[in-house]
Amino acid sequence: MSDKPTMTTSAGAPVPDNQNSITAGPRGPVLMQDYQLIEKLAHQNRERIPERVVHAKGWGAHGTLKITGDISKYTRAKALQPGAETPLILRFSTVAGELGAADAERDVRGFAIKFYTEEGNWDLVGNNTPVFFVRDPLKFPDFIHTQKRHPKTNLRSATAMWDFWSLSPESLHQVTILMSDRGLPVAPMFMNGYGSHTYSFWNDNGERFWVKFHFKTQQGHKHYTNEEAEKVIGSTRESYQEELFGAIEKGEFPRWTVQVQIMPEADAEKTSYNPFDLTKVWPHAEYPPIEIGVLELNRNAENYFAEIEQVAFSPSNIVPGIGHSPDKMLQARVFSYADAHRYRLGTHYEALPVNAPKCPVHHYHRDGQMNFYGGIKTGNPEAYYEPNSFNGPAEDKSVQEPPLKISGDADRYNHREGNDDFSQPRALFNLFDEGQKKRLFSNIAAAMGDAPDEIKERQCKLFDQVHPEYGAGVRAALAAGKTERPAAISAAE
Ligand code: NDP
Ligand code: HEM
Repeated sequence: MSDKPTMTTSAGAPVPDNQNSITAGPRGPVLMQDYQLIEKLAHQNRERIPERVVHAKGWGAHGTLKITGDISKYTRAKALQPGAETPLILRFSTVAGELGAADAERDVRGFAIKFYTEEGNWDLVGNNTPVFFVRDPLKFPDFIHTQKRHPKTNLRSATAMWDFWSLSPESLHQVTILMSDRGLPVAPMFMNGYGSHTYSFWNDNGERFWVKFHFKTQQGHKHYTNEEAEKVIGSTRESYQEELFGAIEKGEFPRWTVQVQIMPEADAEKTSYNPFDLTKVWPHAEYPPIEIGVLELNRNAENYFAEIEQVAFSPSNIVPGIGHSPDKMLQARVFSYADAHRYRLGTHYEALPVNAPKCPVHHYHRDGQMNFYGGIKTGNPEAYYEPNSFNGPAEDKSVQEPPLKISGDADRYNHREGNDDFSQPRALFNLFDEGQKKRLFSNIAAAMGDAPDEIKERQCKLFDQVHPEYGAGVRAALAAGKTERPAAISAAE
């Protein structure tokens, strides 16, 4: 008698044989009545769920946020009070590659955190860059199409990328970061994270402050050059998973110093730039970063699919004391993510263990696919609508965000008018030393690859406006590495 548990069908019946199908005679054919075979094949056909439409390839782990600073005068959020410790899950990702893409590719990295606070889940779905390529959400799907595969060649298209960027000068800041050393980190622990958008804090007195979140790596910045990355990818496509998973298994827990920049609500009218524009940072000299704590990753997932693939982050998840802002991109993201999760994971995705809040949950949503939590979440079967006389869960006015004054005529405003797309990329360019500038130029020339010359020149004219040295440097790098466009690709486009 073995002490192994008995294998069963998913309906719980013991399985007599998991090696030999039921056949008519030893040479077959198999019989339809072999339910065990049918169940196995049917399950296999359903093992994949849709990959994320962007940020498909990812690596993640569990950890903790410890608050050491005191920002209680800005926010009432319990997870941000002095001494608070909050469990979290963090998923890093690349943007453009599919689920099987190589890790060490030049791309923006996602830096998405779910804080399981006692007041509900708070998700900060950021990147390793403080800005983004576009500032109006109407442009996001087109931008992503340029990063994904060409519909006919099924290849990534340098033409599409640089055509779009050269026609969208607001992308210059992010393009400069992406093409700089920081565009290709060695592993997730060697890069910063940024909430990127402007969010808001509000306190018990009903005062609002605008806020930006920064996560500064304590491991130091480490990057690959393009040449180093090619070698890494030649030997392993999974370098990030190996580095992150391996470090945590060895007890080498990566840490980030958490900082916030705070802007009083009324200052938003005074800054020379729009503080809700996602293509801009708030200069540190104007709004100095305040250190508030440490984020540590200290536990690997037990099951990659259940925890890292099925985790669902959404900028719509905020908690009392933290709010959104007028940032147009953030407003669109508040809609987009939960919509993606309902499609990618199913209606009741928030009840999956990795997404379920670690505080009591009471709502009146009802049936639907995957309702595996037993019907309703009100605590009383008679209280299945609201208002009711059966002690069903009720609203709590004390968590109402303070009112936000907004005004203006509804219209489609040209977001490029009066917007300076050059000063901040220039400030960044001026931070680079000679070696960084040289690598920036050659990385851009390599990425422009087989794009047509007129598109390359249009982009160089934008670089000229950032800094004459920038445009000239890219032109020289292009001349040095001139490549012919493969004829088959030019013909297909
Ligand atoms: P500061 O000199 O006060 O800050 C410079 C910031 O740039 C630091 O956060 C630093 O990050 C970061 N940085 C340094 N080298 C690089 C690099 N090679 N690639 C990307 N980021 C780098 O200046 P300002 O606040 O006035 O900002 C100047 C420019 O720095 C901005 O236009 C922006 O491009 C960039 N930047 C600014 C940030 C901000 O929130 N103000 C945040 C990140 C970048 P670290 O501390 O990790 O070294
Ligand atoms: C993933 C939409 C801008 C960071 C996603 C997903 C969608 C999406 C649909 C897949 C979600 C899923 O299936 O779970 C959008 C839209 C944007 C936008 C519509 C702009 C209007 C941004 C910006 C950032 C960002 C500005 C960072 C500052 C991320 C990250 C992920 C992601 C990190 C992966 C999250 C994870 O690890 O599961 N985005 N996005 N996105 N996005 Fe965005």
